[in-house]
Amino acid sequence: MKVIASISEMTRFSEAIRKKDQSIAFVPTMGFLHAGHLALMTKAKECADHLVVSIFVNPAQFGPNEDFSTYPRALEKDLEKCREIGASAIFTPSDDQMYPSGYETYVTLERLPFHLCGLSRPDFFRGVATVVTKLFNIVRPHTAVFGEKDFQQLTVIRRLVKDLNLDIDIVGVPIVREPDGLAMSSRNKYLSETQRPHALLLHRCLEAAENSVKQGETDPGNILAQATDILAAGPEDMRVDYLSVCDPDTLEAVAVIQEKTLMAMAVWLGKTRLIDNRLLVP
Ligand code: PAJ
Repeated sequence: MKVIASISEMTRFSEAIRKKDQSIAFVPTMGFLHAGHLALMTKAKECADHLVVSIFVNPAQFGPNEDFSTYPRALEKDLEKCREIGASAIFTPSDDQMYPSGYETYVTLERLPFHLCGLSRPDFFRGVATVVTKLFNIVRPHTAVFGEKDFQQLTVIRRLVKDLNLDIDIVGVPIVREPDGLAMSSRNKYLSETQRPHALLLHRCLEAAENSVKQGETDPGNILAQATDILAAGPEDMRVDYLSVCDPDTLEAVAVIQEKTLMAMAVWLGKTRLIDNRLLVP
């Protein structure tokens, strides 16, 4: 497994694979890898001859008061996990290489970022769309794999690939959860022992919503009220960022649950922001 820090070397590596008529599947990450990331890598390995993983904590997607400087990092352990899975190369560029002085070009979308996570993280999707476009140009994959845990991110990436005519297949992988239901996330590391059980309330809201819709509930208002009731059992420092019942393609709120509908949520537990989602099928 090659560990590549230089942009030009990464592109040369991929070009050599492409010249041999072999294929590359790519999993972009910010590291501190857990079983969710590993599920993406396993899926990617099934899709192509070679797996390339990037580990880059992208400064452009963090707001000024967010956790860029404290975001958990564990490069050696991450490399070990990638080696075990059988990755061909790990791309670990520096901030200066990705955003050298004078950098001023960003990729923005007109509508998708103005929903869900984008409302409280106004520059987040500009940062994600920019770094992913750059990584696609550097790594030149045939396929790229993303998690449904970040449903809006996956929607944004599918849109940008279509809109910019990028010749890359985007594959989504279902959310990987802890045995008790909490969606795996690098940020779960921030949760204290007393906070950890409360984090489960998100999963409970989604399960309750799924059950209600299965039993015939079609009113998003009732689904949202039920979730609000469930979250009311949380501690004082639990605060809802958003709760949404929306169209999974446009992310716009729906008036009636008729077809596959996305329930998505973000909740602060103290200083940790947790997200989760589920497709509700009537
Ligand atoms: P990161 O949070 O490290 O996540 C990398 C990939 O792993 C994303 O596609 C994310 O959706 C997926 N993932 C995380 N937790 C998961 C879980 N529990 N189940 C399934 N998939 C999961 O997302 C980012 O990094 C960044 O925004 C990035 C795309 C790398 C751009 O900087």
